[in-house]
Amino acid sequence: MVDINSAKKNLTTAGFLDLSINPEMDLFAEIERLKKEKNAIILAHYYQEPDIQDVADFIGDSLGLAQAAENTQADIIVFAGVHFMAETAKILNPAKKVLLPDLNAGCSLSDSAPPALFKLFKDKHPDHLVITYINCSAGMKALSDIICTSSNAQKIIESLPADQPIIFAPDRNLGAYINKQTGRDMLLWNGACMVHEIFSLEKITKLKIRHPKAKIIAHPECEAPVLAIADYIGSTTGLLKFTQKDDAQEYIVVTETGILHQMQKNNPDKTFIPAPPNNSCACNDCPHMKLNTLEKLYLCMEYELPEITMDEELRLAAKKPIDRMLEISAKYGL
Ligand code: 13P
Ligand code: SF4
Repeated sequence: MVDINSAKKNLTTAGFLDLSINPEMDLFAEIERLKKEKNAIILAHYYQEPDIQDVADFIGDSLGLAQAAENTQADIIVFAGVHFMAETAKILNPAKKVLLPDLNAGCSLSDSAPPALFKLFKDKHPDHLVITYINCSAGMKALSDIICTSSNAQKIIESLPADQPIIFAPDRNLGAYINKQTGRDMLLWNGACMVHEIFSLEKITKLKIRHPKAKIIAHPECEAPVLAIADYIGSTTGLLKFTQKDDAQEYIVVTETGILHQMQKNNPDKTFIPAPPNNSCACNDCPHMKLNTLEKLYLCMEYELPEITMDEELRLAAKKPIDRMLEISAKYGL
C-alpha cells in the first residue's frame, strides 16, 4: 500500500495524492466534516461529476466562481474545476490555501495559448488592447488588459470605444461569435476548446428531426455552424437559467454533459438531451474536468494537497486584468 510520504513525493508526476481509501468510508460525511473542521469552502464548476456538485458549497460558471473566490471568508478554497480556475482563485486570494484535487486537470483552450508565443503576436500589434478569455494561464493573464468570461465578454467588448483595435484570445469561436454580435473586427488568436469543437452538426440536426419541439441551446465555445442553429447561446449559468425560465419541455444541450445534472435537478419535468460529438460516444465529457473525483476531493481536503502556489510578481501582473473584469461586471450587475 502507498504511504502518505511516497504519495507526496509522487505528487508532481501523479497530479493527485494516490492513496487508497477504505471503501466503506462515507465520503460525503467525511467531506462535510473536513469543511467544518478546516473552515474550507468547495467551489465547483458545472462540468464536475454529479457527486462533486452535490457536496459543493457553490456551483457556477467561470465568472460566478471567480466572484465567489473573491468574496469567500473561508481559510481554504477547494477548487473542483480545472487548473486555470484554481489559479484565478489563488491570484485573488494570496493569503488563502487553494487546493485542486488533481493538478493535471488542465484545459485544451488554455494550452492553445502559450504566453511566449502570444507575446510575439501581441508585440506586432502595439496599438491593440488584449482581451483574454479567463480559460488561460496566469502567464497569459499577465499579458492581458482585461479578462472576460463567456457571460460578460460581450458587455466588456461593448464597454470599449468602437474604434479601439482589440486582440481577442485564446478562443477563436467565442471571439468570432462576439465579433458577429457586436459588429467589431477583433483580431482572433487561433485557439479552441477540444470539447466544444467536436460537436457534430449532422448528428445534432438528426436529433432535432427526431425531437422537433426540442430547443437547441449551445455554449459560445462551439463552432459557428452549430451556433447558427441554436435557439439560445450562453455561458453555463446562462444556459441553466434559460432552461428555468423558458417554457419548452425538451432541450438539446450543446456543451459538456456535466451541466445536465443541475438542469435536471432544477427542472425535473423537462427532458435534456446531450448533443452528440463527432465520434462514437453519445455524450461529450471534458477529460480535464473529469480528472477530479470524490475520492481525490476527500484526499486533498484531508492532507491539504495538491496546493496551488504562484510567484508573487506574476500574481500581481495577472491580477490587474482580472480586477478590471470584476469591476466592469459589477458596474453592469453581472
Ligand atoms: P463557463 O462556465 O464560464 O460558461 O465556461 C465554460 C467552460 O468551458 C469552462 O471551462
Ligand atoms: Fe477547457 Fe474545454 Fe474542458 Fe472547459 S470544457 S476546461 S474550455 S477543455
